[in-house]
Amino acid sequence: MLNITPAALDHLPVIRDIAYRTWPATFGEILSPEQIAYMLEMMYSLDALREQVNEKQHVFLLATEPDSDQFLGYASYELNYQNQPITKIHKIYILPESQGKGVGNALISAVTDVARQHGNTALSLNVNKHNKAVRFYERIGFAIAKTETIDIGNGFIMDDLVMIKPL
Ligand SMILES: CC(C)(COP(=O)(O)OP(=O)(O)OC[C@H]1O[C@@H](n2cnc3c(N)ncnc32)[C@H](O)[C@@H]1OP(=O)(O)O)[C@@H](O)C(=O)NCCC(=O)NCCS
Repeated sequence: MLNITPAALDHLPVIRDIAYRTWPATFGEILSPEQIAYMLEMMYSLDALREQVNEKQHVFLLATEPDSDQFLGYASYELNYQNQPITKIHKIYILPESQGKGVGNALISAVTDVARQHGNTALSLNVNKHNKAVRFYERIGFAIAKTETIDIGNGFIMDDLVMIKPL
């Protein structure tokens, strides 16, 4: 069993720490070290995280084992994305040593519960085309909807798949 709890602003450094421990293994063979550093700074500086929570309505969830203060991973989501009944999963990262043990599944289940409670009818997310996570998403019921290439500045692009799961 896992505990899934909403993160407080005090937890933002923990989220940043998990990202910095997870991204090199996730993207080391997909993106250049320069692009990884650029994206981490853009998405995970404390200012950027605070802006996501305070101004962009992103909600972060953290996973722990019961009776433990060790955080294993996080997800963030946004209800009613772009004024549609869709919940966008912006982020989901599990520490390398805790992957493959059901933590990702538990976080998506928690997001699914909230999305349904708010009458949202689908989950949506972006994932890099070459990320192994595509198989995870397919396993839990997502399907590829389209490709999306996003210019993130500094000469870098994100080469993504958009994946959707109807609820
Ligand atoms: C992708 C990720 C979130 C999945 O979470 P996880 O806790 O490792 O996955 P779970 O243990 O909950 O797996 C759930 C199911 O998906 C399957 N699965 C997980 N990863 C898989 C993979 N790479 N390939 C195929 N199946 C996979 C599991 O076998 C399991 O299936 P089962 O229910 O039949 O046993 C996690 O591995 C992670 O953080 N990866 C690195 C960061 C990342 O890529 N994040 C996504 C960015 S878009």
